[in-house]
Amino acid sequence: MGETAQVVLIDHAQDSLRALDVAARLSIPLCEHVPDSARFVMQLDDDGLSIQPNQPDAPAPLRAEFVAGKAAWRRGQGELIVKAVNIRGRAPVSVLDATAGLGRDGFVLASHGFAVTLLERDPIVHALLADGIDRAQAHDATREIAASISLYQADLLTWEPDSDEKPDVIYLDPMFPQRRKSAKIKKEMALLQDLLREPSDERMLLERARQLANTKVVVKRPLKAEPLAGTKPSSQLRGRSTRFDVYPV
Ligand SMILES: C[S@@+](CC[C@H](N)C(=O)[O-])C[C@H]1O[C@@H](n2cnc3c(N)ncnc32)[C@H](O)[C@@H]1O
Repeated sequence: MGETAQVVLIDHAQDSLRALDVAARLSIPLCEHVPDSARFVMQLDDDGLSIQPNQPDAPAPLRAEFVAGKAAWRRGQGELIVKAVNIRGRAPVSVLDATAGLGRDGFVLASHGFAVTLLERDPIVHALLADGIDRAQAHDATREIAASISLYQADLLTWEPDSDEKPDVIYLDPMFPQRRKSAKIKKEMALLQDLLREPSDERMLLERARQLANTKVVVKRPLKAEPLAGTKPSSQLRGRSTRFDVYPV
């Protein structure tokens, strides 16, 4: 995140204790009305935390959602990501999703029984993600999955794991794809891209992931993009718009 002062929090949930806590953690002002100067508005309402640009034609508020909509459909689907991350003969495979974002990929992996740890370096995205995971714990369909996920606010480049045990797989999805078909996704991505700071150095990210992984690093890329840091993977799994590049260690 560039300037967190550009983000303000509005409490629509009348939950002043929680609103004060969120505002303090993120060092953002808790306001009754949105000042014109704010670039983004974070809202606390009955559906949890969300964020929206402060502009008249703003897209719908963005939140980490694991219970309803597309998230419900993706849970348990036999997606390419599952094949890419899987290690034959080993279960459960432990995965460090080191660029967690809003946690969609991580949650899909957890729904397939992978032991998932999420890292997200941006404090605002981390807060949205933590809120989504908490809400998922309140629903029967997602409770167990959500409870199995560990989340840390940390940068992979400086993160030191608690234990000496390396994760089997490190999963990276550091980039916002330049082209995606759905206009809705485009708007959502544009919002996040606007909110977040510069991307991590690709070479350092891949190097650090290779140091920390026990078996392989899996990198999600837009189908036609260059490989991360221009480094050729050993194998690829190709989908319709996305591919997974695999680097054994
Ligand atoms: C494209 S999003 C990931 C989307 C995610 N795969 C999903 O399914 O929702 C990339 C995220 O990685 C985070 N990120 C980038 N570099 C990072 C790093 N070095 N350590 C931790 N998080 C990082 C960014 O803040 C951003 O939220």
